[in-house]
Amino acid sequence: MSRLAIDGGQPYRAEPFPRRTPFGDEEVALVTEAIRSQSLFGLGGPKVTALETEFAGLYGVKHAVGSTSGTSAIHIAIGTVNPNPGDEIITAPITDGGSVVPIIYQNCIPIFADVDETYNIDPDDVERNITDRTAAIMVVHLFGNACHMEAMVDIARRHNIPLIEDCSQAHATKYKGRYLGTWGDLAAFSLQQSKHMTTGDGGMTITNRDDWAERMMLFRDKGWTRKPGWGPRTYAFLAPNYRMTELHGAVGLAQVKKVRSVVERRIELGSYLTASIRDIEGITPAPVTPGSEHSYWAYPLRVDGWPVARFAETLTKEGVGAGAFYIGEPIFLCMEALAAKKTFGNSSHPFDGCHGARQIEYTKGMCPRTEDALQHIITLGFHEEYTKKDIEDIAGAIHKVAELLPREV
Ligand SMILES: Cc1ncc(COP(=O)(O)O)c(C=O)c1O
Repeated sequence: MSRLAIDGGQPYRAEPFPRRTPFGDEEVALVTEAIRSQSLFGLGGPKVTALETEFAGLYGVKHAVGSTSGTSAIHIAIGTVNPNPGDEIITAPITDGGSVVPIIYQNCIPIFADVDETYNIDPDDVERNITDRTAAIMVVHLFGNACHMEAMVDIARRHNIPLIEDCSQAHATKYKGRYLGTWGDLAAFSLQQSKHMTTGDGGMTITNRDDWAERMMLFRDKGWTRKPGWGPRTYAFLAPNYRMTELHGAVGLAQVKKVRSVVERRIELGSYLTASIRDIEGITPAPVTPGSEHSYWAYPLRVDGWPVARFAETLTKEGVGAGAFYIGEPIFLCMEALAAKKTFGNSSHPFDGCHGARQIEYTKGMCPRTEDALQHIITLGFHEEYTKKDIEDIAGAIHKVAELLPREV
C-alpha cells in the first residue's frame, strides 16, 4: 500500500475484472428460431412484435416500437411530437450526441438547460428556457439516475409542452416507485451493447398516448400506411426507415426478461461502492436524486483537490479502469453541428434563422455548472457480473490513490 503503481509499486488489483457476458442460451435459441423461420424482416415479425409487447408490458404502457438505435428511438419520439421547423427542444448538455442529432434532423433548435448536483438538468433552468417556440422538453437520465421528474412533469403540464425521456442509460429504473420512461409523454431507450439490456445496437420508443401511437409506429417505417398485398401506396408523412430486424428482436426478447434483475444487481453493487468510499475527503460518490433508484450504467465519481486526469490515470494503473471528464465538454461543444453550425452542405440550417428560429451561439460559459461537473468527473465502468470482492477492490484502489496521490496546492 505504500507506493502507487504509477510510481512503480504493486497495483492494488492485479487480475482483470470480469468481462460482461450479457448473452446466453436463450438469445442463441431465439436467434436460431428467427433464422430458421427464413424471414428476418421485423415489421409484424413474431420476434419484434413479441419484444414490443413485452417491453410495453414491463413498463406498463400501451405502445412500444422497436428501431435500430437509441438515436432512431429519440428521432421517432421527436417525429411523433411533430414540431415545426425552428421550434426549440430543451435538453441536457451532458449526454451522447444521439440525443441531439434527431433534434437537428427535425429542423429544431436544441436549447441546453444547465445541470444541478445530480448531473441531470435542473428543473428551474428548464423552466427559465421555455419560450413560445418550445415544442418539447427532453430529459436525459444520466448514468442511471433520474432527473427530478415530479418537477419536470409539473413544468411540462403547466406549460402544455410534451415531455420526452431519454432512458438510454436508465433502463428499468424506478423513481418514486414508477419506472423512468413512464413519467413523460414519450420515452426512448438505446439497446446498444453497453446498455442494461442490449441487442448490440437497437432502440425502443414507448408511449401511453393512444393519440400518438399510430404516428410513432409509422415514423419508423417511412410513414408508410401499409396495406396487405401489392397495390398503390401511401406514405402519410416524411419519415425515415428505422425498422428493427428479427435478429435484434430475438435477442431483445431474451434480454427484456432479464433487464430488471440486471438493474437490481447494479443497484446493489453501486450502493455498496458508494458506502465504501463515502468518507473520503474530496471524493463525491454517485449522486442519487431523492426518490430515485440509480441503476449505474456507469459510476461517476466527483474528484476535488487532485488533478483529475492524473487521478484517473493513477487509478487505472492500480488496475481499476477509470476515465476522466466523461464527454469532456458540454455536448454542444463536442459537436461541430452545434459549435460551428456545420450541418447540411454549406449551410448552417436550421441555425440560419429559418422559420423565425431563434439564433443562438453555442459557446463556452453557456452552462457553467455543466462545465464544472465535467471537469471533475471520473467514470468507472462496472456491471452486474462484478462480485462484492470486485467492488471492494475498486473502493480499496480509490482509497489508496486518495491517500497517496499528491493533492493540488
Ligand atoms: C443518454 C444517451 N442518449 C442517446 C444515446 C444514443 O444511443 P445509440 O448509440 O443507440 O444511438 C446514448 C448512447 O450512448 C445515450 O447514452
